[in-house]
Amino acid sequence: MNILLIGSGAREHAIAWKLEQSPRVNKIFVAPGNAGTALAATNVDLPFPVSGLYSLVNTLQVSLVIIGPEAPLAEGMADALRAANIPVFGPNKNAAEIESSKAFAKAFMARHNIPTARYASFTDFDAAMRHLESVEYEIVLKASGLAGGKGVILPNSFEEACDALYQIMVAREFGAAGDEVVIEERLRGEEVSVLAFSDGTHVRVMPPAQDHKRLLDGDLGPNTGGMGAYAPVNLPGGLMDKITHSIVQPAIDGLRAEGRPFVGVLYPGLMLTDDGPRVLEFNCRFGDPETEVVLSLLETDLLDVVEACLDGTLDRIEVKWKRGAAACVVLASGGYPGKYATQLPIDGLDCAPGPNATIFHAGTTLKDQRVVTNGGRVLAVTGWGETLGDALDAAYDALRPIRFEGMQFRRDIAQKGLTTP
Ligand code: AMP
Ligand code: GLY
Repeated sequence: MNILLIGSGAREHAIAWKLEQSPRVNKIFVAPGNAGTALAATNVDLPFPVSGLYSLVNTLQVSLVIIGPEAPLAEGMADALRAANIPVFGPNKNAAEIESSKAFAKAFMARHNIPTARYASFTDFDAAMRHLESVEYEIVLKASGLAGGKGVILPNSFEEACDALYQIMVAREFGAAGDEVVIEERLRGEEVSVLAFSDGTHVRVMPPAQDHKRLLDGDLGPNTGGMGAYAPVNLPGGLMDKITHSIVQPAIDGLRAEGRPFVGVLYPGLMLTDDGPRVLEFNCRFGDPETEVVLSLLETDLLDVVEACLDGTLDRIEVKWKRGAAACVVLASGGYPGKYATQLPIDGLDCAPGPNATIFHAGTTLKDQRVVTNGGRVLAVTGWGETLGDALDAAYDALRPIRFEGMQFRRDIAQKGLTTP
């Protein structure tokens, strides 16, 4: 089988790497891909407009398309492919709205009794200001639309909140994504990412993972797309069942009941509060960097799981996970998440990463046959092992030879996982 994968991050490199292990996979094409997928698979240009995908799928004799990022899902790429009878893994536009509209997601959770923070949503600046003045709890401001992970603001004072609201709604810092704003209660606790496969009816949850959103060690510095991850997170007994039955399954059932069947990966970002797990957001896709660690632990052929999702038979297959743990350390450009240089040569990629590690590429490209930087997050070095400590050793050993000008990474990935019993 030939497969076309849409995207260009370490998530897509990890999906390609996992699919490559399937005896049933012939060729993997990645559009547009990065230097890592150019070496591991075949990169092709992403056609625009989306109708160009039909001829690409024909020419490449592709019989399955997997869509990685949220933007093409929110724009209806899956709908367009389904309309042309091309098998696609990823939700239609109306199901992807669970990520692309936070206002929709909050109202949806309220309708289906899915635990989340108290909130109100606004399209009118003055009404939002009045709400800010009257709420009695600490708040978080969210641009409702897709803002590339930057649309959530955690203000430290009333003044900061007013300023951020003005920036989003009036100065339109995030463009149309800020036409509607969600103001919600600020929750406290540990965060965990639970990714789940779904065929629209059934779910299979993956091992819980933790992202590291802040740039610097000790969870300091600005928010980023994610500086590292590990899995599984050691949760109290029964908590994964509770998350599955009070959050993941009700969301899939609710979407189906509302005429928005969800086929793909549904990924709630959760806060584990003293009152139980609460949804911070829903994502309609694999997480990045969670995918790098979770797929390293998947034992079952990923193609079998994806096909069961497309066939509506996810309940009939067993999805097996390896024992042990995986950890991923992201190597980022100097200056990220602010301005950074690109096209910088990367050294050390020719050193073998060891048997229990792999180097997924994110923002990289090939220039004169050399791998150079091409984005904020550059590489996602991933290790696994019997224990989380082994996985971390494998990842940090594998990144040691790698160098590029300005390279930065966190040295404390998964430390919380090592210290919690
Ligand atoms: P989101 O894009 O909605 O996941 O938000 C990005 C990050 O903002 C989350 O990973 C949390 O760290 C933080 N966040 C979002 N909502 C809340 C909340 N209600 N309380 C506390 N932190 C939050
Ligand atoms: N790990 C954060 C995200 O994928 O949105």
